[in-house]
Amino acid sequence: MSQETQQDCQPQHIAIIMDGNGRWAKKRFLPRFVGHQKGLKSVKRLVAHCSSLGIKALTLFAFSTENWRRPPDEVNKLMGLFLKALQKEVSKLNENNVRLIIVGDRSGFNDEIQEHIAIAESMTRDNTGLVLSIAANYGGRWDIVEAVKKWQLAHPERSISELNEQALSPYIALSELPEVDLLIRTGGEQRISNFLIWQMAYAEFYFTEDLWPDFDEKSLDKAIASFTQRERRFGKTSEQVAK
Ligand code: FPP
Repeated sequence: MSQETQQDCQPQHIAIIMDGNGRWAKKRFLPRFVGHQKGLKSVKRLVAHCSSLGIKALTLFAFSTENWRRPPDEVNKLMGLFLKALQKEVSKLNENNVRLIIVGDRSGFNDEIQEHIAIAESMTRDNTGLVLSIAANYGGRWDIVEAVKKWQLAHPERSISELNEQALSPYIALSELPEVDLLIRTGGEQRISNFLIWQMAYAEFYFTEDLWPDFDEKSLDKAIASFTQRERRFGKTSEQVAK
């Protein structure tokens, strides 16, 4: 790859699958929940770092549609942590000009969480800094099916044969943001687990063995450095991209 075809700028939109909280705790003979608490600390560090780097959007996978299958005690504790984060952290995010979006099927959450989601989103709506999206009760397939339903509701007079990528795109979650440039997954697994499957169509993937609670500012810098070395062709040839 020639020097000219390398990325010369940082990613605008980073998405992260924050994996490894449980193993981090297990290695220390601690309950899994302590790993999630430590994981929240990593979230706070990384949000501040992305803000200072001038990254436009950061999307974090906090709870998938499949995570309800975990033991009820762990699910309850994760919900408690989510609520506490919404109650405690939002004013700080607001002070730092961060706009918070929750993406996913919020009808799955209890009333108190839904209420705090609404408060957090409206409080930070006009902020112009980092857009922090938390994917909670989210699944990429759910997202696409929802988009089709929304498209049909918006255009009852149109036939399904008129539906194409361009028409559907505005109804996919986070359509107002640039598409994901860089997906990071911590914890050693190399899969996307039904995350932003539409939005990551052309993302560069970065997998690391680091467990999420250990992932810090330097780890993110390393992932971004790897991204800047990649050649993104979007279907074209190297020669075309070089031009
Ligand atoms: C995956 O690790 C992590 C989760 C399912 C939860 C992610 C939650 C946090 C990082 C903390 C809360 C964050 C917010 C934004 C409120 P795992 O439990 O699957 O780890 P393992 O693979 O080692 O078991």
